[in-house]
Amino acid sequence: MTEAELYSSYKGVLVPSYVHPAESLKYYEDFTFRPDDILIITFPKSGTTWMQEIVPLVVSEGDLTPVLTVPNWDRVPWLEEHRAILLSLEQRASPRIFATHFHHQMMNPSYFKIKPRVLYVMRNPKDVFISSYHFHEMASFLVSPGTQDEFLEKFLDGTIMFGSWFDHVKSWLNAGEQEHILYLCYEDMISDLKASVDKIATFLGKSLSSEVVEKIADHCVFKNMKQNKMSNYSLVPEEFMDQKKSEFLRKGIVGDWKNHFSTAQEQKFNAVYQEKMKDVKFSFPWD
Ligand code: A3P
Repeated sequence: MTEAELYSSYKGVLVPSYVHPAESLKYYEDFTFRPDDILIITFPKSGTTWMQEIVPLVVSEGDLTPVLTVPNWDRVPWLEEHRAILLSLEQRASPRIFATHFHHQMMNPSYFKIKPRVLYVMRNPKDVFISSYHFHEMASFLVSPGTQDEFLEKFLDGTIMFGSWFDHVKSWLNAGEQEHILYLCYEDMISDLKASVDKIATFLGKSLSSEVVEKIADHCVFKNMKQNKMSNYSLVPEEFMDQKKSEFLRKGIVGDWKNHFSTAQEQKFNAVYQEKMKDVKFSFPWD
């Protein structure tokens, strides 16, 4: 199917129409936040699913029931996804946990008024690109990526789902309500998951014992989380996500881009990155 058939443009950003139809975008537009809501915000392929595992466990203080009994997409629903309408989110007990891939300026009026808590996760865009390339090959509701060179053009131009990685990251790093946002990097989570769980717990006002932090980190480490059928997307029909082509929990490592980029692709990526990120002060682990 063509891009015009598969995607629509919402606030200037491409979104896959099958999972984000107009009525879902309208539902999100009118959604009312609570101050104690917890939002996991990411550019796709930056660690959303990982956070959909970690954050409910922090909130449950290590009780595994929510992550072993509820699929991640209902446990921490995307507010822009068609399923959100079906889940009676208004009736959910606090603290509610949601995910979204929206850029900062795409957030709805209630977000800017209420300022709920945000966990914003960033990942080396080269690894995001490789993860995204594989995802586009296996997900039937996305435009086929073409060659890696073709997909790289689109990624750097921001003409893929949820637009430009650069714009996304800059929009959230420049958010005015920074005291409500915890910025996290995938690479730091890989290098010390317990420290990241601790940081998330502190931000959410949870005091967890070192045993509970250890239990959460152990459950959420890639090889263990990959076994959880509520989180590894094995419940999704193959015609929608063909995990024989590429698994959703694919490698879960830092630096896989080095196994895939040609020298020319690396140079091109670096040139665009340097130009687009030149005014950004944040110190990223990959720089
Ligand atoms: P790879 O394709 O590089 O393996 P998202 O959930 O935002 O779509 O991101 C998916 C990426 O996060 C995939 O990256 C996936 O393997 C990785 N991921 C998911 N759970 C993880 C975990 N527990 N540890 C490390 N990486 C994880």
